[in-house]
Formats: sequence, C-alpha cells, structure tokens
Amino acid sequence: MEFSAATKQHIGLEERYGAHNYHPLPVVLSSGKGCFVWDVDGKRYFDFLSAYSAVNQGHCHPKIVAALKEQAEKLCLTSRAFHNDALGPYEKFIHDYFGYDKVLPMNSGAEAVETALKLTRKWGYRRKGIPENEAVIIACEGNFHGRTISIVSLSTDPGARADYGPYTPGFEIIPYNDPKALASLLEKRAATIAGFLVEPIQGEAGVNVPDDGYLKSCYDLCKKYNVLFIADEVQTGIARTGRKLCCDHEEIRPDIVILGKAISGGVLPVSAVLADDEIILTIRPGQHGSTFGGFPLACKVATAALEVVEEEKLAEKADSLGTFFRKEMQKIESPFIREIRGKGLLNAVVIEPYNGKQAWDVCLKMAENGLLAKPTHDHIIRFAPPLVITEEELKEAIDIIHRSVKSLEVL
Ligand SMILES: Cc1ncc(COP(=O)(O)O)c(C=O)c1O
Repeated sequence: MEFSAATKQHIGLEERYGAHNYHPLPVVLSSGKGCFVWDVDGKRYFDFLSAYSAVNQGHCHPKIVAALKEQAEKLCLTSRAFHNDALGPYEKFIHDYFGYDKVLPMNSGAEAVETALKLTRKWGYRRKGIPENEAVIIACEGNFHGRTISIVSLSTDPGARADYGPYTPGFEIIPYNDPKALASLLEKRAATIAGFLVEPIQGEAGVNVPDDGYLKSCYDLCKKYNVLFIADEVQTGIARTGRKLCCDHEEIRPDIVILGKAISGGVLPVSAVLADDEIILTIRPGQHGSTFGGFPLACKVATAALEVVEEEKLAEKADSLGTFFRKEMQKIESPFIREIRGKGLLNAVVIEPYNGKQAWDVCLKMAENGLLAKPTHDHIIRFAPPLVITEEELKEAIDIIHRSVKSLEVL
C-alpha cells in the first residue's frame, strides 16, 4: 500500500505518543456516513467491521446525532448522586423494548460483563444459598468478554491473559458448543454454581456459530440446576444476527442479558445489564455503580439508537442480507477461501494461506480496493457491515472482496 504524507503523519503520532496495545490496518479515517468511512485523503471505504459491531445503525446516523446534540446542550452528566429526567424514561423504554423488569446501566461492554458477574455472585449467595466465597461461574473456551482482570481470568486466550496474574478465582471453563460438558459439570457441582456465561456466537474467536439447539440445551440445563443463564450479547445483540437478540433464534429468555456496542449506535460508550427483580435487586444502594452509568446523554442517545433499529427494521435486513451475503460469497472460487460462516450480518471467512499471503494481506488488498475488514486470530476475516447497507451496496462490496482475492492469486 502507498501511504500519503497525511496518513504517515497520523500513524507516526500514534506510534510515538500512544500505547501500542493495538495493531490497526494502516488507514487513517476522518469521517463516516452510513456504511462508508473516508480517510484523510478523501478515499471512500466500505466499513465491514462496524467498530466490532457497534455501528449497526451506520455511521453518524442523523437521528442519533440529533439526540446527542439536543441533550448535550441541556444536561450531560449528573452522576447517580441525584436523579435526572432522562434516566427513568430510558429505563422504562428498555423494559418495554427487551421485556426485562429492570436495567443496570453501565458504559463499556467489559464493565457490563463485570456487573453481570457480580450480580450472579450476589444472586448465588443471597438467593441460591451458596456458602460464602464458594460461588462458581462457568464460561466457555475461546470466549471473549472484555479486558478487565476478572474477565481475562476466565479467558483461554494466552495473548489476553499472559502476565496479568494472579487471576480471579471462581471460574470453570468448559468447551464451547458442548452441552454434555455443561451437563456433566452441573451434575457434579450444581450446589455451588451460580451462573453460566456464554456468547450466543463467539465473535472475537472468529464468528464461531454453535450448533442449532446448543443455547436451548444449555438454557434448559441451567433451569434444571437453578443456575443463571447469562448471555453476553455485546457483539451479537441489537439486530446484528438477524434478531433483536441472538438468543431469540432459539426462543430462549436468558436470566441476564449483557448489551453494549450498538446500544448507542456507536455514538457513545453505553452498556447495560438486563434482568428481572429477583436477580437485579440483590444489588443494593452503594454496592455497585459508575459515575457515567446511565448519564443523561447516554439515555437519550441509546433510546434514539434502539428506535432506529425498529424503525429501519434492521433485524429483518440483517437476516435477509446475511443470507444473500453468504450465498454470494460461496460462489467465489478461490484457494484463499476455506470456509464462510455466520448468522445475519455477523460473518467470517476462514482464510487458507496461499502464494505466501495470509488474511492480513487479503485485508490490505481489500483496503486498497475500498473495503475495510480486520483479521481475527491471524486466519479469519470478519465481515460485519453496518446493517443499514443496501443490497446494491452489498453487491458492490462482494465484488471488491472477489477482485481482491483474485488479484492476490496471480501475484
Ligand atoms: C462478546 C463481547 N463481550 C464483551 C466485549 C467487551 O466490550 P468493550 O470492548 O466495550 O469493553 C466485547 C468486545 O468486543 C465482546 O465482543
């Protein structure tokens, strides 16, 4: 790739003055609209990452931006030391929208996961009667739930864990997509197990879609053993997989739902934990919180973002366009493409190295041709455009992917 002076300058600044905890593609973006972003030189790209599925409603959605501006001029932050006139209506809106008794508002996905873990432990001690300090939460191999010390303690990714010990105890890891493993652990130790934490599709692991019926089997087991079923829908939720929540595909209602990312349309860091009273009211005043959690600006932005999902029928769009995407991608014959998988508009292509070229090279070539996507785990490329993309735009994007792999084949 050729780099302009402006691109080099921006990358140089980040390199010199920012921590090196990411390895971005060498493009410097400066604006976005719908499913497109533009770099500092005015070049347009399809955004096929959507900020890891945070921008489901498209970049700078006018309704969400208007809500942000209007509230920003009125009241941004009060902390929860006082009531504010945006929080209550937002909480009722979330109740009506998702059908849970209550919401606990937070900011980042990781914070919401931490909140769910704390809530699960509280419930385990206060309701289930687990002896003090013995509560166990089960998680799955290959999971990604965020970056805090407790969350990396239940990660199985060496890159996410190394040198961050000592780790938080109280977690058990079982294989993903294996209800028998869950059954066997619950059979032996249900008395001290408080919850089962699962991604309905493992996004960061490479869009691992479990077998049909997996979530339902796990849910039924949790019910049988009085264990909370906790769905981390931070990446899969808010219409991304063709339903409001990915768990809706199997018609199950998790005991705890964790949301983040697209709940604000990518406009502000907003996250949420949903549960019914029996669970959520185990946390009492002073026992958990965050200065920004549920701040007025977030309440208005998230309400607008969720309204957009309904008004523009984004779940239905993700469902049908996702089927179209996978069907069209299957038609591409290339030694680079080993597998195409996904649900709705959360998809991935498993790349087979060819001609000495890897997934990273495919991403660089696609960027050159005007489409941005990022490898996960070296050999998998996730394709997750904003859900506002049209069929015409999607066709154009597939053509870019096609042309990119073809041109690498002949090099
Ligand atoms: C399933 C899942 N949970 C939690 C997180 C963490 O969210 P955040 O990066 O906002 O902390 C992510 C982020 O990618 C995620 O995919």
